[in-house]
Amino acid sequence: MSRTLITGGTVVTAADEMAVDVLVDGEKVVALGVDQGWTASTVIDATGRYVIPGGVDAHTHMELPFGGTFASDTFETGTRAAAWGGTTTIVDFAVQSMGGSLRAGLDTWMAKAQGECAIDYGLHMIMADVNEGSLKEMEGLVGEGVSSFKLFMAYPGVFYSDDGKILRALQKGAETGGLIMMHAENGIAIDVLVEQALARGNSDPRFHGVVRHALLEAEATSRAIRLAQVAGAPIYIVHLSATEALDELARARDQGVNAFAETCPQYLYLSTDDLARPGFEGAKYVCSTPLRPQDHQAALWKGLRTDDLSVVSTDHCPFCYTGQKDLGLGDFSKIPNGLPGVETRMDLLHQAVLDGHIGRRRWIELACATPARMFGLYPRKGTIAPGSDADIVVYDPTARHVLSAETHHMNVDYSCYEGKTVTGRAETVLSRGRVIVDRGEYRGRKGDGHFLRRDTCGYLR
Ligand code: URP
Ligand code: ZN
Ligand code: ZN
Repeated sequence: MSRTLITGGTVVTAADEMAVDVLVDGEKVVALGVDQGWTASTVIDATGRYVIPGGVDAHTHMELPFGGTFASDTFETGTRAAAWGGTTTIVDFAVQSMGGSLRAGLDTWMAKAQGECAIDYGLHMIMADVNEGSLKEMEGLVGEGVSSFKLFMAYPGVFYSDDGKILRALQKGAETGGLIMMHAENGIAIDVLVEQALARGNSDPRFHGVVRHALLEAEATSRAIRLAQVAGAPIYIVHLSATEALDELARARDQGVNAFAETCPQYLYLSTDDLARPGFEGAKYVCSTPLRPQDHQAALWKGLRTDDLSVVSTDHCPFCYTGQKDLGLGDFSKIPNGLPGVETRMDLLHQAVLDGHIGRRRWIELACATPARMFGLYPRKGTIAPGSDADIVVYDPTARHVLSAETHHMNVDYSCYEGKTVTGRAETVLSRGRVIVDRGEYRGRKGDGHFLRRDTCGYLR
């Protein structure tokens, strides 16, 4: 077995910052220490660098079918881009089709991902059709390591579940340990507003943000949490973006409810100003929940500090501006929903450290440790400790670079952050002990990423 020694850096985990060396043997971290006289076949000098756990992005959509097209990153291109950005684990979403079983959806997504990924990956299950059969299947999936299920209060006729179906899924979640993840927007009401907006001739991308009203996110968030309470189940709210929704979440958490939530970098750095860019440019920023007015960002940063928001995921779901986003020219409701982001999350959150929004250990907690624990991967992923997988990033906190579609590795023809300078960059990336990014050179291989059979949520065990 080859040994790797990472020397001279500052190890940063969610719990500690330590000037120690890290010894890797094969795929695992075996020891942390100072002046141990360790020898290794590969020695990485991390002087002046942070040594951090590889990022865990718990919300990505490679190749997601949406609005008549597919997200433009495959498992191959998307996991390669993730690696470049210092993320070494993704949890993507298998999709149950309407009338189909969970098993069939899972098999389809396993086949898409297998042999393609450069980094380790897990799968959540999107439940598009909650019925007696799919409810029964949940237990089996939890046992196979697919221990979380996403439901939608949005997208009537596509992924939407009504309150009765949601309650049943939550009850089954409570029984089996499966964590229900909720897309919390009142899709029925939104569809009325979409119809009215289009009838008035309001077809530009910015109206996507108008019809997906913040109060309709807040209402759905509150309803989802209260349904979870009735079922005696925990709940995880995905891509929370509105202050009003955060208020509902915080109120429930103050009452002791096991309600968790993530937000995403786009809600922290982008706004309705981007949706309102001239011409059709705003289509690049169409995602759901939508971007909000800038004044929501301060509340989200605060939520990240107080732990009402405990995870930052990307909801990476890229569609090219030319040939995909333009399906919605003349009708904002036909713009495929989703943004690219799997490559930029770690750097944008490090920028947040430099800007004083969060601390360094909190950066690692939000981007690595908590998502791993939330989705049954900790301490294998999300930390650097003896026994953990050697998913490690040597991070240069001083490297300034400009985010751009010209230089990113995501398979999409634009960057949401075109021209933005950030400080900090993944310099060397190890995935289970193998160097896959080495100072600007990609050394990863498709197929080296393994499927992760996940345990149940680590906050409830
Ligand atoms: O706009 C988004 N978020 N697209 C991906 C699907 C989803 O709802 O997460
Ligand atoms: Zn969603
Ligand atoms: Zn999503």
